[in-house]
Amino acid sequence: MVWWYPVLVLVVVATVVLTVRAIRGKQRHPGYVRIRVNGERVLDVPTGGALLHALAREGISLPTTCGGTGSCAWCKCKVTRGGGRITDQEQPYFSRTQVEDHWRLACQVEVLRDMEVEVPAGLLHPKQRSGTA
Ligand code: FES
Repeated sequence: MVWWYPVLVLVVVATVVLTVRAIRGKQRHPGYVRIRVNGERVLDVPTGGALLHALAREGISLPTTCGGTGSCAWCKCKVTRGGGRITDQEQPYFSRTQVEDHWRLACQVEVLRDMEVEVPAGLLHPKQRSGTA
């Protein structure tokens, strides 16, 4: 056996392992989309349903007093990519400048494709409640 044979095998195995890891890292579950929040958090969530609820399931709770019916306008956030066009129901809650700046009502944005959103920074990393259990 040539002295460098084990080194060659090691290099080939390492290359294969790193390649498989890189490919798996880019794969997603079918039926899921990726939401990047504030450029910091990346969420893989099922398609369908409202952005408001998708974020809430991941611990990012935008305020709401209407439960997501589109009537309180407390759930405002920016959807800078993947949100589609603003709906007629949302229009009255925003100025032209806000519309151009991608403001939306999270409860009226359907999660259909990869998105980039911006929420108030305090909601991204909510403080842990101190339990007295
Ligand atoms: S939750 Fe009330 S308008 Fe969106």
